[in-house]
Amino acid sequence: MSIVSNSLKRIKPSPTIAVTQKARELKASGKDIIGLGAGEPDFDTPDNIKQAAIQAIKDGDTKYTAVDGTPALKDAIIKKFERENNLKYQIDQITVGAGGKHVIYNAMMATLNEGDEVVVPAPYWVSYPDMVLLAGGIPVILECNEKQGFKINPSELEKTITKKTKWIILNSPSNPTGACYSEKDIREIAKVLEKHPHVYILSDDIYEHVVYAGFKFFTIAQIDSLKDRVLTMNGVSKAYSMTGWRIGYAAGPKEIIKAIAKIQSQSTTNPSSISQAAAVEALNGTQDFIKQRAKSFQERRDYVVKTLNEIEGIECLNPDGAFYVFPSCKGLIGKKESNGNVIKKDTDFVQSLLENNDVAVVQGSAFGLEGFFRISYATSMENLKKAMEKISSFCKSLK
Ligand SMILES: Cc1ncc(COP(=O)(O)O)c(C=O)c1O
Repeated sequence: MSIVSNSLKRIKPSPTIAVTQKARELKASGKDIIGLGAGEPDFDTPDNIKQAAIQAIKDGDTKYTAVDGTPALKDAIIKKFERENNLKYQIDQITVGAGGKHVIYNAMMATLNEGDEVVVPAPYWVSYPDMVLLAGGIPVILECNEKQGFKINPSELEKTITKKTKWIILNSPSNPTGACYSEKDIREIAKVLEKHPHVYILSDDIYEHVVYAGFKFFTIAQIDSLKDRVLTMNGVSKAYSMTGWRIGYAAGPKEIIKAIAKIQSQSTTNPSSISQAAAVEALNGTQDFIKQRAKSFQERRDYVVKTLNEIEGIECLNPDGAFYVFPSCKGLIGKKESNGNVIKKDTDFVQSLLENNDVAVVQGSAFGLEGFFRISYATSMENLKKAMEKISSFCKSLK
């Protein structure tokens, strides 16, 4: 009998973390690998935030805090929702965890019963289906192809909802496609969800601040008729370049917030006290650098999309946000490498790109849509230029 639990057997390790790890190993063995696999900003955490953490250590803020976040951080989160999203919450509607991932995981563990369904639009962030499975739920994949801009078609959504649907997960801007839902898009989806009052909505807004050229961010909790069943998740990882600090949060129905605190009280207890102090400064301090950084991401997106579309066999949409693009490599399927290997699917393309051409990206099938790959352009222009040259010459070499 295996020591490993049955629920663990239902899931696989994160493929994006696996690619990053493989790239790290190849680098350590002396190869000059360009990593376009990891989903984290290449910018440093701003200095005012680091100083707040140093001050917290000096002030002795080094003990357990309230399980699901300090009052100071919850207050900063309430102010953020009011300032940026025009949403009002009470303190008992806020939870803080060790990263956005932790918050979503807790939400699934706190709410899913065996056999409950969760609608997960694909391409999806790799962790959603596995978190649902781990909690005993069933991920119901709703395919959103490139013809619909990788966004949900409301009438298709209608067809996926059953009596067993407990949640739908929305993610805009999206990882892995960068697709962003406008207010109009979200209102269309809301019309469907209004008809199904038993369905809760998890809105993953972690890339809220990585949007470009006039795109106006809108989140589904802003629709009054739905707000009572929306859990809005966000965090400091992407907007403030704080991936390593591990602070994520959510706002929503008190019952869910309380249930999450119960899980946290018996598992991780509070997220790091020092990181929480830093997150208070992130949310309350200057927000000036956010726009500058988004501008810099936009320049990189422009370059990457243009260059990819010049490569025969590759097609790439021009997304409005996040720091990812999700090009199609379908035009290269069936072609042969110089060593005779045939590219049969996206995983072959990605594997050869890493092992023979020193560029790490992630296959689309890991995100639930075969025939694509994800590029994270959260790296320097210099790296992007080198990577694009390598991708281009690899694609040209395929016969
Ligand atoms: C769509 C999405 N949601 C949530 C997260 C979790 O972010 P963190 O746990 O670092 O706060 C990520 C991180 O990559 C993400 O891409």
